[in-house]
Amino acid sequence: MAAWVIRKERQGEPVDAFRLEEIEVPQPGAFEVVVRVMAAGVNFNNVWAALGEPVSVFRYHPDEDHHIGGSDASGIVWKVGEGVTRWKPGDEVVVHCNQASYEDPEVHGLDPLAAPSQRIWGYETSWGSFAQFCKVQAQQLLPKPRHLAWEEAASYGLTYFTAYRMLIDRCGLQAGHRVLIWGAAGGLGVFATQLCALTGADSVGVVSSAEKGELIEKLGAVGHVNRGDFDGMMRRGGEGPDEEKARFKESRRFCQAVEEILGGAPDIVFEHVGRATFPTSVLAVKPFGKVVICGATSGYQLDFDVRYLWMRQKEIVGSHFANAWEATRANELIEQSKIRPVLWRTMGFEGVAEAHQLLRDNRHLGKIAILVGTTAEGQGRTAEGPGAIRAEVGA
Ligand SMILES: NC(=O)c1ccc[n+]([C@@H]2O[C@H](COP(=O)([O-])OP(=O)(O)OC[C@H]3O[C@@H](n4cnc5c(N)ncnc54)[C@H](OP(=O)(O)O)[C@@H]3O)[C@@H](O)[C@H]2O)c1
Repeated sequence: MAAWVIRKERQGEPVDAFRLEEIEVPQPGAFEVVVRVMAAGVNFNNVWAALGEPVSVFRYHPDEDHHIGGSDASGIVWKVGEGVTRWKPGDEVVVHCNQASYEDPEVHGLDPLAAPSQRIWGYETSWGSFAQFCKVQAQQLLPKPRHLAWEEAASYGLTYFTAYRMLIDRCGLQAGHRVLIWGAAGGLGVFATQLCALTGADSVGVVSSAEKGELIEKLGAVGHVNRGDFDGMMRRGGEGPDEEKARFKESRRFCQAVEEILGGAPDIVFEHVGRATFPTSVLAVKPFGKVVICGATSGYQLDFDVRYLWMRQKEIVGSHFANAWEATRANELIEQSKIRPVLWRTMGFEGVAEAHQLLRDNRHLGKIAILVGTTAEGQGRTAEGPGAIRAEVGA
């Protein structure tokens, strides 16, 4: 089969790291399924995989010398392994990207995300969706929403299910909550914004352009802040005392802007930027509020003034992807068109490396989908429905 492959010796910028190669079609083991990929979704995790940072993905799967990335897919069940009864060849599916061994006790009572065997498919494993066929555990399959085209169905899983767990399960999002969302027009942010609107919570999104601001207000945010107006609040690391004082002043000014839009300090801050923004997030959240974090695009060594945490009894909540049950519940909201995919661009199979470079350079908004088995956009819909929101503005 044709597959976009990263190898150890060429880790680096995405445009150099990804190469198209001929690889054998995988075979399903027990409780596994091989899916014919119709479309794939592009995520930031395979930017990290290409770069080999912060760790090389070959540390996660040392037995495979190739890395076929891709943690989002829509497709058709091709072959099922021993023990699989819920799915059969021909079923149309989307794939969530959490894997764990069914033998781990954590899977059966705590949470698969707590299992020692837990892995993100298509990042910490190979056999992801940037290939004609992918190999997954049967529990990763969800019904494809019938009103979505293949590329729309492939675009939302990883970021949407992550945002769902962060807000709904880890923070208990409720009507009336106030929420600050960093990178609100990005992959996670467009879903965090929609989940807030659906729940009856008010969100303010941080973005880097007026066009992105317009997009998130269309998605239900009550307002937006352009981070370009508060550049001085970003933590760069190694600031001297005077620089830190000036930075802190800018953070305060930012918090005031957020409070003016929301009518009060946020109950929840939705974090994934990390080093640059984390001190401001801890400052901004209201007493007893939660900063929920799932990533660190700007750096993972965080430092912040902890007095604002303990004196105001704030909480930092770590969150990582979602379990199959959360993915199922979240997928139902897509099936009901209560949450909609936000697609910025659909590219052909030849575009995998370029798509990751766009993410790396922050020249995208919303999501990018890749056509794999499907030959043109718009195929695969078998029911009426509104489809994806097209983010048509430039990044
Ligand atoms: N643990 C998990 O399960 C999980 C799941 C999904 C994602 N993640 C991680 O979360 C991060 C975001 O993922 P994503 O898919 O949302 O990426 P994305 O589509 O690139 O969106 C992130 C947004 O953050 C903003 N941003 C980037 N650098 C920034 C900076 N230095 N300061 C302030 N804002 C900045 C950008 O928006 P503006 O330029 O408009 O401000 C960007 O659109 C990545 O690091 C990813 O690996 C983790």
